[in-house]
Amino acid sequence: MRLRRRGFLAGAAALAAAPLLPARAQDAGVRLAAAPAKVNLVGAGYPDTEVWAFNGSVPGQVLRARQGEVLRVQYENRLPGPSTVHWHGIRLPNAMDGVPGLTQPPVPPGGDFQYEFRVPDAGTYWYHPHARSSEELGRGLYGALVVDEPGAPVADRDAVWVLSDFRLDREARITPDFGHMRDASHDGRVGNTVAVNGRVAEGFAVRRGERVRLRLVNAANARMFRLRFEGHSPVVIALDGHPVEPHAVPQGIVLGPGMRADVVLDATGEPGSRHRVVDDWYRDAAYRLLDLAYDAAPGGAPSQAPVRAPDANPLAEPDLARAERLPLVLGGGAMSPELQRATPEERSRIAARMRGGGMWTLNGHAMRGHVHAPLFTLRRGRSYVFEVVNDTAWHHPLHLHGVAFRVLSAPMRPWRDTVLLAPRERLEIAFVADNPGDWMIHCHILEHQDAGMMASMRID
Ligand code: C2O
Ligand code: CU
Repeated sequence: MRLRRRGFLAGAAALAAAPLLPARAQDAGVRLAAAPAKVNLVGAGYPDTEVWAFNGSVPGQVLRARQGEVLRVQYENRLPGPSTVHWHGIRLPNAMDGVPGLTQPPVPPGGDFQYEFRVPDAGTYWYHPHARSSEELGRGLYGALVVDEPGAPVADRDAVWVLSDFRLDREARITPDFGHMRDASHDGRVGNTVAVNGRVAEGFAVRRGERVRLRLVNAANARMFRLRFEGHSPVVIALDGHPVEPHAVPQGIVLGPGMRADVVLDATGEPGSRHRVVDDWYRDAAYRLLDLAYDAAPGGAPSQAPVRAPDANPLAEPDLARAERLPLVLGGGAMSPELQRATPEERSRIAARMRGGGMWTLNGHAMRGHVHAPLFTLRRGRSYVFEVVNDTAWHHPLHLHGVAFRVLSAPMRPWRDTVLLAPRERLEIAFVADNPGDWMIHCHILEHQDAGMMASMRID
């Protein structure tokens, strides 16, 4: 495997992934202001970058609450345009979901909004705006939200890695080419500079013998990750916040945009050693994300205790025998199979749709903007199976708001809120429609979402 650094970053000074100050959001409540800021993304010796940030940092601070607590966030929009905050993966009341036009009026520049909701599930979640998402996240607006389960921690140490990327020019400025049609019709706005917790990282400090719970969050607009920890075998204990049977992933940990994985990493390396964490999702473009950098001190013996997952979250089990089955077809994009099958008349209709910016579809509809008639109306309390078909030549991380679903087609049928579909893949997801309201369904490649791959479902 040939490794190279992405972007212009070779030689960036050694940097530990900066620890983030957690805020306990439930106490007096936390203030979260979205505003332009200047931060150093690339490292010493490189200019600062103008970003948009929550409370001045990229990513925004880790918000933490205990399972079942009420989270209170005083949001202040100090951006040039209207915005909101969405709490990705949290099963909250619809009015707190942060989707402009659908669940709340967009917060105007200079405006405020009080978010307040109970967090029913423990695990790793995240927050980000939901207006002009491609640009707002592409400029740095996102942060992790960690909900702690009751009971003893599963590891000695808990760390968050918010993975993201930026498209920078040689002066480390974010290039303003948002909404580019080539990005939209292909694999989205993949950046050229990868960051861990908002910095181009060199090392993550570990001590021999410790057991670390790593909370991985893919906050990038479009970049996929497949992480391999050389010399180590991290064990996955949760996906999108929800516990799974602990299992090793020799094929690497795959994270599409929006997805999370909690892994337990036993530090079995020798004191003073370094081990690469490699991302090799993109063929011929593997690179070293960072090194696990062992402290020179002798440390302790690696734990022999079996890795355990936290207790399950209180999710209603879908009744598969009686579930209503609904097809959900992802269409559009460059080299679309639909285009190849189309008659000449259909082809000119598709071409006209694409010229209008409707590059992608859900069940044949290209939705631009958040307010529209629901694609499905679901009966509250009823079980549903979505038969999802990716009728495109591209990967899509499909995200549902308001619910978590079981991925019936995946080993161990994990609960997730975002599922990655490979080109032409079909899979089934199942859930109980137990959270009333109008909820978004969309691809979490934000340029795909903006160019049509979104819809809503109503739970009555
Ligand atoms: Cu991460 Cu519709 O959101
Ligand atoms: Cu997509």
